[in-house]
Amino acid sequence: MRFGSDAFLRLSALSASASALLSLNDQQPLTSSLGAIPSSEDSAYRVPLLTLHRDLVNIPSISGSEADVTLFLEKALTRLNFTVTLQPLPKTATNPAARFNVIAWPGRDDHTPPAGFHDRVLITSHIDVVPPFIPYALHSTRIPPHQPLNFTDLHPSTLISGRGTVDAKGSVAAQITAAALLLRSGSIPPHSIALLYVVGEEVDGDGMKYFSSSLQHSSASSPTRHHQKLKAAIFGEPTEGKLACGHKGIALAAVVATGKAGHSGYPWLGKSATAVLVRGLGGLLDAELGSSERFGNTTVNVGVLEGGVAANVIAKEARARLAVRVALGDRRTGAEIVGGRMRSVLEEVDSEALRLEFGGGYGPVECECDVDGFETMVANYGTDVPNLEGDHVSYLYGPGSILVAHGDDEGLTIKDLEDAVEGYKRLIKHAVEA
Ligand SMILES: *[C@@H]1O[C@H](CO)[C@@H](O)[C@H](O)[C@H]1NC(C)=O
Ligand SMILES: *[C@@H]1O[C@H](CO)[C@@H](O)[C@H](O)[C@H]1NC(C)=O
Ligand SMILES: *[C@@H]1O[C@H](CO)[C@@H](O)[C@H](O)[C@H]1NC(C)=O
Repeated sequence: MRFGSDAFLRLSALSASASALLSLNDQQPLTSSLGAIPSSEDSAYRVPLLTLHRDLVNIPSISGSEADVTLFLEKALTRLNFTVTLQPLPKTATNPAARFNVIAWPGRDDHTPPAGFHDRVLITSHIDVVPPFIPYALHSTRIPPHQPLNFTDLHPSTLISGRGTVDAKGSVAAQITAAALLLRSGSIPPHSIALLYVVGEEVDGDGMKYFSSSLQHSSASSPTRHHQKLKAAIFGEPTEGKLACGHKGIALAAVVATGKAGHSGYPWLGKSATAVLVRGLGGLLDAELGSSERFGNTTVNVGVLEGGVAANVIAKEARARLAVRVALGDRRTGAEIVGGRMRSVLEEVDSEALRLEFGGGYGPVECECDVDGFETMVANYGTDVPNLEGDHVSYLYGPGSILVAHGDDEGLTIKDLEDAVEGYKRLIKHAVEA
């Protein structure tokens, strides 16, 4: 892929406020410590790893306002001898803010990767987080509260908490550290990898979708289009340090019930939309909507219920909003198969009063998990994996647990982070050499 000068913004065009942010970060130990990543295999990278992770977490980046963290990351990667390009997303009416994906590849002289992304292993995660912002904190019996950070006092069991520590800035910091270590020790050739940190994963994956379309678009006008293919993509999301064999798909849907209003004392004169909705939802919750050995059962979450106007009025309208975790079929077919089954269930309950509004989605996503030395798992959450088009091999791996990822207690231990650096090193080498 070639980066057209119109499509990508070189980082020289930073705003005044961005420059202020960057000079602020210059005061942090990040600068010197990242430059000093050791080449040995021991955990002597703890300080630069934790510094990078802390600084990423301390810059708020709730989906839609990720600009500050992209500018910070651009600078951190440049210091590690990557060439960095910020890919601006088109502004929309609902999101007029400046937003960028961060794309980087090893080497300081190349302004474009010589052979595009062809045959590279893409190492990727997202830099947006869910609200609200929760500041970085360290929890350890060894450190009195509120004492300034002294990384030499830390222990592998020390807990790090804050928004994004797990989802997914833990993955971002561990991936960058692993890639820098592998390049430093000459374990992988510089042209074998590229890094991509996208925005918007927590909402609709617009960052990855835009990157994916730009890759297709550039390829289409490139003379080498038939050879433009990523070798693999390694996605960083919390998998508790296990290699995910894939994750369930997701479909969004609404069940709409239409009745006839009337006095609640004479139910036979009207038709209760709320009552029929409850029966329809009961049918969906009890139905076999599809299962598979790898992904288990398709499950339905009734997330929102709306309907009726008063306790003593027969409800004319009611609706429920659902998130369906799809375990059946493949990425392309799974959601539609489950949608069809849901329609049949509702028709059986009341074909006149109930209607399914199917918002679409995707079926289960398979990832490669046959790599020596990794425990495996299957995830029940969605990721950017299906948003990157192409027939590359996908891997899904990262530190921390999804069970705390969006909670007030989001956090992981130093050992989780350091284990992930080692895991990414093995995974990147495996993907490059495969
Ligand atoms: C970046 O490259 C320069 C020149 O090759 C080298 O001296 C320096 O150690 C490198 N820095 C890192 C962080 O690898
Ligand atoms: C950090 O802790 C180490 C070991 O406890 C100590 O020797 C050092 O002086 C401390 N550094 C700072 C800046 O407090
Ligand atoms: C799937 O659902 C069936 C019953 O419908 C249940 O027996 C089984 O335990 C479920 N499997 C999982 C993995 O939850």
